[in-house]
Amino acid sequence: MYKIAAIGGDGIGPEIVAEGKKVLEAAGERFNFDIRWADFDIGADRYLADGTLIPEEDLKELKRFKAIYFGAIGDERVRPGILEKGILLALRFHFDLYVNLRPIKLLDGVETPLSGKGPKDIDFVVVRENTEDFYVGIGSRFKKRQKTTLNVERELYSVKFGLDIESDAEEIAYQIGVITREGARRVQTYAFDLAMQRRKKLTSVDKANVLSDIYGLWREVFTETAKKYSKVTTEFTFVDAITMWFVKNPEWFDVVVTPNMFGDIITDLGAMIQGGLGLAPGANINPKGTSMFEPIHGSAPKYKGLGVANPIATIWAGSLLLDHIGEHKAAAAVVRAIEKSIKDGVVTKDMGGSASTGKAGTYIAESVRKGK
Ligand code: IPM
Ligand code: MG
Repeated sequence: MYKIAAIGGDGIGPEIVAEGKKVLEAAGERFNFDIRWADFDIGADRYLADGTLIPEEDLKELKRFKAIYFGAIGDERVRPGILEKGILLALRFHFDLYVNLRPIKLLDGVETPLSGKGPKDIDFVVVRENTEDFYVGIGSRFKKRQKTTLNVERELYSVKFGLDIESDAEEIAYQIGVITREGARRVQTYAFDLAMQRRKKLTSVDKANVLSDIYGLWREVFTETAKKYSKVTTEFTFVDAITMWFVKNPEWFDVVVTPNMFGDIITDLGAMIQGGLGLAPGANINPKGTSMFEPIHGSAPKYKGLGVANPIATIWAGSLLLDHIGEHKAAAAVVRAIEKSIKDGVVTKDMGGSASTGKAGTYIAESVRKGK
């Protein structure tokens, strides 16, 4: 019996997590395990009701679980950044989820926008560092223009006469990226271990030609770590170049390890080449603690409740969850069932089908249950 925490969140989050739960429960029936869900009310509604993002008690409670199944957060009624930082990033930092695992795999029957490429060409994994870099939140703004009466008058005056008398040219903002030796080492080690289980090739992403201090350290650690893995072929790429190679030669990649922000950017590109955001899963992992599994897309508020959201990314994230808790056969069965639903055309509108979110989810759950 597994106890798993669930956070539906905002927008389409609750609907897609509901489908994911159906599928994981079906996997349990077939492979003989039970799941007991613990639902957490976290998201925009709660924030708007009482100002709570994630209270201490919830964090304490969540710590008791090995896995959290997460939908999506983001809501038009809340200023951008508040829920993202206060919930999603807060969870990543609180539980030290230093690996963000994002498989970029073109499933059978899915169309990629890359012409001439098929499932055998697009099958790699991005290991995104998830707790450092420009996400640490060290920064400030200075010499900010205040809305004083004097300034407002000056502004009106300058608009009226077309003069630039009050200039904001002095304003300063900075934000600092941080890489620690241990932070780089642990995520790169994870990536090397993963490469050992796959095709034994690891690509490191950075921008060491310009940001040579932080990514210089990243590279140095990579070179040292590589010495312990003589069977793994390694290479360095700059982040700008890798966006080009993802499009031109995705078949070159097996495992890609990247600092946080570049990882954020290149995995959206990765999602597109694997058929779209509706298909891209992610796992936020702390190998020794609580981990969290989510689709990489957002909450798509305008589709909330319409039954059109594609549940595949979330269901696939559920497969990553099963893998993480050791149910490897069940995890593989879930991906096969997703592929079957695609082959049988029981897919949502974004993939050219007409199935509702619920119908697509139920179909996948049924195939998992029946094993075909
Ligand atoms: C992602 C998202 C998040 C990130 C946002 C929502 C904070 O884009 O998971 O890729 O930047 O990591
Ligand atoms: Mg992103």
